Amino acid sequence: MARKSGYKLTTRLVHGPEHSAKWDFSHHVTPPLSSSTTYRLDSARRGARGFGEFGQLVRDVGEAPIYIYDRLDEPTRSILEGELADVEGGEACVSFASGMAAISAALCSTLRAGDELIAHPVLYGCTHSLLTRWLPRQDIRAQRVDLNDIAAVRAAVNERTRVVYLETPVNPTLELIDLRALRGLCDELNRGRAPQRRLLIFVDNTFATPFGQRPLQLGADVVLHSLTKNLGGFGTEIGGAVICPRELHSELLSYRKDFGAILSSKSAWAIMVYGLPTLALRLKRQQFTARKVAHWLEAQEEVARVVYPGLESFPQRELARSQLVDFDGDFAPGNMLYFELDPARAQAEEFVDEIARSAYSVTLAVSLGHTKTLIELPASMTHSSYGSSGGGVRLSIGLESPSDIIADLGAALRAVSRARPNAKAKRVRAKQPKRARRQ
Ligand SMILES: Cc1ncc(COP(=O)(O)O)c(C=O)c1O
Repeated sequence: MARKSGYKLTTRLVHGPEHSAKWDFSHHVTPPLSSSTTYRLDSARRGARGFGEFGQLVRDVGEAPIYIYDRLDEPTRSILEGELADVEGGEACVSFASGMAAISAALCSTLRAGDELIAHPVLYGCTHSLLTRWLPRQDIRAQRVDLNDIAAVRAAVNERTRVVYLETPVNPTLELIDLRALRGLCDELNRGRAPQRRLLIFVDNTFATPFGQRPLQLGADVVLHSLTKNLGGFGTEIGGAVICPRELHSELLSYRKDFGAILSSKSAWAIMVYGLPTLALRLKRQQFTARKVAHWLEAQEEVARVVYPGLESFPQRELARSQLVDFDGDFAPGNMLYFELDPARAQAEEFVDEIARSAYSVTLAVSLGHTKTLIELPASMTHSSYGSSGGGVRLSIGLESPSDIIADLGAALRAVSRARPNAKAKRVRAKQPKRARRQ
């Protein structure tokens, strides 16, 4: 059989592993979907050995792996985990029932009572809620510091700090965090620390996906994913994953065993068979459309500001070009957009209500990384745990024709600015050539 090393990641995500200790992979063209809650142990000795070996990284020694019970380990899920570790360039991966299960497990299995983390001020709403509402009950505190301000991060770190936590691009503002700069600082601060107290950088890579950014290569220690989004890709599965160094793997598996938030084998199979092989294809198409929509939005007078890493106006253009790079080395600005309406001309709430009423190609719904284009208002929906109001509109671009998305967004903008006679008059004036206006 041909060897997979040397093949591009795009190809490896279509074909998966050439061999797995977990299953006969030589004869299945499509990976198998296993569904068994419990496993025959053959003898008390073999059962005891299975429990004893639980948590050790892949036992690829040419003998059948000892499976015991689905919540401990399971073949379909563990093949997916091998693929995710490979595509992120990590040593190990543990999957979970959701992105939030992965994030909470990664933090709770690493941090002890009395430890601290430093997190960027803006994060996905439920992650913010985990840091502000639940972790303090275990005496784990989060300081919120702008992670692009290296001097501020340096000043905030103390001997209790264990984790630096971030998303890049940030949900929903699409701000980027400079991972290389943060790595430099952590390396410097780690010089005086014992290995078990090393500062670790945790990066939620849900927005960019490994297609658009490999944080471990840029300096992260741990990568987190909501598989529910771009990696699943079709809006049918909820899942999460932690890609981590070997030394955190066993603890994470034990945590999952005892807290129980396992990814179902059926979801793992769908993500592996449908999501991963189409990741590059979907993202490339969605990026193509996202660029068009971003340019179009920038030209609309009801729109005050558009944030998209692929726009010339993106404030961190250079950083975007060096961090957001796809499997082929090309710039990968992603499929997410964030924009603000000019409140004097159109209200965001009225705009998304109009989308919900009249649009066919754009759906008012949370989540992202779907085949369908989804729109939402973070301040009152996904990020409502922050308790703030106003703010912008988040748009996750799907696989529809770009012109249909633009037509639906345009019709909704016209409808809501029509409701404001002054704005309409201004818009009509602005659309006329300057010469005609002077006449
Ligand atoms: C950046 C990010 N991380 C994590 C999550 C949580 O994922 P899940 O819904 O799979 O728990 C989300 C969900 O929207 C997200 O946007």
